[in-house]
Amino acid sequence: DSEPLVLGIETSCDETGVGVVRGHTLLADAIASSVDQHARFGGVVPEVASRAHLEAMTPTVERALADAGVAFEDIDAFAVTAGPGLPGALMVGVAAAKAYALSLGKPLYGVNHLAAHVAVDQLEHGPLPKPCVAMLVSGGHSSLLLVPDVATDVRPLGSTVDDAAGEAFDKVARVLDLGFPGGPVIDRMARDGDPAAIAFPRGKYADGTYDFSFSGLKTAVARWVEARERAGEPVPVADVAASFQEAVVDVLTHKALRVCKDNDVQDLLIGGGVAANSRLRALAQERCEAAGVRLRVPRPKLCTDNGAMVAALGSELVASGKAPSELDLPADSSLPI
Ligand code: KG4
Ligand code: ZN
Repeated sequence: DSEPLVLGIETSCDETGVGVVRGHTLLADAIASSVDQHARFGGVVPEVASRAHLEAMTPTVERALADAGVAFEDIDAFAVTAGPGLPGALMVGVAAAKAYALSLGKPLYGVNHLAAHVAVDQLEHGPLPKPCVAMLVSGGHSSLLLVPDVATDVRPLGSTVDDAAGEAFDKVARVLDLGFPGGPVIDRMARDGDPAAIAFPRGKYADGTYDFSFSGLKTAVARWVEARERAGEPVPVADVAASFQEAVVDVLTHKALRVCKDNDVQDLLIGGGVAANSRLRALAQERCEAAGVRLRVPRPKLCTDNGAMVAALGSELVASGKAPSELDLPADSSLPI
C-alpha cells in the first residue's frame, strides 16, 4: 500500500460527491444528489444546489470514509473540483476541502472538472493510453479534448457553441412533457420509436470545426411538435424521441471520430452523463470498430458527476509530482482546461 490515499470532493453542479482512491483503485464513491429538489423547476437551481451541498458535505465524507474502511487521519492528500461549475456550489466543496487539508496538514489539489471526467476511466479500465481523445457530454458541457496526459496536458479542441448535449435532451423532454432529467426517459422512449421517422437537423455536422451546436435541433423539435398540436394531430412521442436522439448521437460520434482520425489517435473515451445513453454507446461502438479505434466508456455511475473522478485525477497529480494548490485556491466557475 505504498500509493497515497486520496479523497476527492465534487460539488460543481447538483451532486455532492466524495470519492476515495488509492492509485487506480476505487475504494469509495459516496454521493448525495439534490436532483429531486430541482425536478419541479425543470433544471438545476444554483441556490438550492449550494444549500444542499452544505447540508450533505459532512455526512457524505463520513459515508465515503466508512465505505473505504479508512480513518480520516489516513488520508494522504485531498482533491477538489475548483471549476468549471456553478460558483456557489463550487465554493462549498473548495471551502470544505481546504478545511480538511488544513486540519490534517495534508496537500490539497484543485482540479478541473472536465479533466476529472477523463481521469475517472482509469479506475475502471486501467491507465489511459497516451494520447487519447476524450468526448465529454453532459448537462453542462459538450467537449472534445486531445489528452496526451490527463494530469499535465489536456487540450480542448472544440465544444458546444450553445446548448450542451444533455441540456438538449432535457429541453426536448420538457417539450414532450417527459419530466427532468430528460436524458434517461428519452433514451427509454426512443427504443420504441423509429430514428429515421423525422429528419431533424444535424448542426455543424460538416463545418470543419470540432464544435457542436444543439440549439437549432432543439428548436426544430419544438416547432415540429407545435405544428402537430396545432393541426390537432397526436404527437408520436417515441418517433420524435428516437429521431431527436439519433440526430444528437450522429453528430457526436461523427465529430469524435474525426478528431481521432485527424490526430492519428486510436483510443476514444466518452464520459459525462450523456455517455449513459444506450444509442450513443451503440453507435460509437459501431463507428469505432469501422475506424479501428478502441472505445472506452466508464460505467454509468462513473460517467455522471461523482467524487471518485476528482480523487482519480488528484491521485494522478500526486503521482506526476505536480505542486499542490495553495490554501487560497479560488473556486473558478469558468476555469479553463
Ligand atoms: O454528468 P451529469 O450527471 O451532470 C452534468 O451535467 O455535469 O449529466 C447529466 C445530464 C443530464 O442532462 C441528463 O439528461 C443527461 O446527462 N443524461 C442522459 C442520459 N442519462 C443522463 N442523456 C441521454 N441519455 C441518457 N441515458
Ligand atoms: Zn460533469
